[in-house]
Amino acid sequence: MSETDITPDTGSTATTTTAGESDEQARDAWTEYRAAGETKLSVEDINVWYGDDHALKDVSMDIPEESVTALIGPSGCGKSTFLRCLNRMNDRIKAARVEGSVEVGGTEIYHPDANLVELRKRIGMVFQSPNPFPKSIRENISYGPRKHGEIEKGLLARLFGRDDTEAEAELVERALKQAALWDEVNDRLDDNALGLSGGQQQRLCIARCLAVDPDVILMDEPASALDPIATSKIEDLVEELAKEYTVVIVTHNMQQAARISDQTAVFLTGGELIEYDDTEKIFENPESQRVEDYITGKFG
Ligand SMILES: Nc1ncnc2c1ncn2[C@@H]1O[C@H](COP(=O)(O)OP(=O)(O)OP(=O)(O)O)[C@@H](O)[C@H]1O
Ligand SMILES: [Mg+2]
Repeated sequence: MSETDITPDTGSTATTTTAGESDEQARDAWTEYRAAGETKLSVEDINVWYGDDHALKDVSMDIPEESVTALIGPSGCGKSTFLRCLNRMNDRIKAARVEGSVEVGGTEIYHPDANLVELRKRIGMVFQSPNPFPKSIRENISYGPRKHGEIEKGLLARLFGRDDTEAEAELVERALKQAALWDEVNDRLDDNALGLSGGQQQRLCIARCLAVDPDVILMDEPASALDPIATSKIEDLVEELAKEYTVVIVTHNMQQAARISDQTAVFLTGGELIEYDDTEKIFENPESQRVEDYITGKFG
């Protein structure tokens, strides 16, 4: 990966480019794509600053439901920052300031009264390195629903006649099956999750995310720490999940984006969304020369 120029924004309107990029001007029309199907997430003029660094500039895009949207672009172009805008995870970063609007099913997530717990349940996130809790496989799945008061278990629950052991078992089975992990772990649900392989841990994290019944699943390079076999399992799973959920996935792997996504958004240096379209169009006949150069490996 070549070095990117991440000079702080000086307020000029010139497009920041990576070494090897042409200085083509981006056109609004390249991002005005409307996918077939209902819009799940509607992003309007999102800007993000880290201190004085303008990391994401005027990004607008409609993300359709029940499909896979890939976010690609060179390192430092703002993919993770953008993904975090979609469930307000940037709120947790002190230096970050976000402006703009994101609507989920018509509800503004940046409304001051938005319920962040509810929001992050509805819009779950899976990270680059698998991060299961140091607890049993079963508890990794039931932790969220218990925290949200959907499952009660244990001595106190038994005393009050509210023990939900059966409901928990059903939930654990459903989530692990959805994440294509059930067959590999159903005989050791009480083992520590940290004993699973990396690929299994990542599918467990996906199952944990599914257990709270999200609508949208955000994934930030979920397979980049995995070997090819584990990666292909995650890819199959992503395609399967898109039948029911809205999946937005950041990937560095161009072939992966081409294989699994329905539409692709290309971000380039300077935090701009340059082109957004059907994945086939982006990979076979992009409008932007810079996007073509990026996809064919001329820079980035
Ligand atoms: N917590 C932070 N504090 C300050 N600056 C940050 C922070 N997170 C990201 N940035 C800056 O914002 C810009 C975009 O970063 P981001 O992590 O979103 O890029 P990315 O496209 O995900 O890169 P990569 O492919 O390397 O993961 C970069 O210049 C980065 O240095
Ligand atoms: Mg990133």
